[in-house]
Amino acid sequence: MIFLKTPEEVNVMRKANLIVRDTLLMVRDRIRPGVSTAEVDKWVKEYIESQGAKPSCLGYAGYPASTCISIDDVVVHGIPSSKKYIEEGQIVGVDLCAYIDGYHGDSARTFMIGKVSEEKRKLVETAEAAFFEGIKGITSASRLGDISGTIQNYVESHGYSVVRALTGHGIGREMHEDPAVPNYGVVGRGIRLHHGMTLAVEPMINLGRYEVYTEKDGWTVRTKDHSPSAHYENTVVIWDDGVEILTM
Ligand code: MF3
Ligand code: CO
Repeated sequence: MIFLKTPEEVNVMRKANLIVRDTLLMVRDRIRPGVSTAEVDKWVKEYIESQGAKPSCLGYAGYPASTCISIDDVVVHGIPSSKKYIEEGQIVGVDLCAYIDGYHGDSARTFMIGKVSEEKRKLVETAEAAFFEGIKGITSASRLGDISGTIQNYVESHGYSVVRALTGHGIGREMHEDPAVPNYGVVGRGIRLHHGMTLAVEPMINLGRYEVYTEKDGWTVRTKDHSPSAHYENTVVIWDDGVEILTM
């Protein structure tokens, strides 16, 4: 069931989404070699709580942290650890959600730590660009495949693969609502979008093949070929006259 939001509801959703945006900007300023991923998670939890919100991920389906921190070949859902240190040259996906006044916000960035290889830099830039390609020209008259297929075409035309096993999603009163928003599909196909649809659009792209697996911890998703992976996500609203990004 897809829950369309009224403009008033979207106004309430702005709050959670702006907290998510500001949390990621805080992380961007502070993340550096030598900090543990548990430390980053602590910054995130404290910041979100200082804004009167709750970190949606903490306790979600038993998830043990507020942040997903996914380094290099980890695609998503990396669990923060006091034993895992961020290092120069890594690409570090930071994905987080906040909940306030009954609604969730969700966004992710992949940060480049110090000097990273050209190969990784281009991958990270392509994930971000794929998001913007995917929403370009989208309105309530578009179809879901216009987003999904455009992302896939863009990513694959640059020689990368899109993860199939995980998708974006609707978002609102629940962190994950219908519809699923795949990063692969066919332009012109899929369900029609609607005025007031709120979606988390999140390209997850790999340098190598698209296959992934989940580690024994039940969360950490890695590329099967251990090639690096990049993730870029924003919560958006579909309106009759275009797409509004709530987490920027
Ligand atoms: N932003 C992530 C997503 O869209 C949130 C994962 S939270 C977790 O799936 F608890 F599931 F890790
Ligand atoms: Co998401």
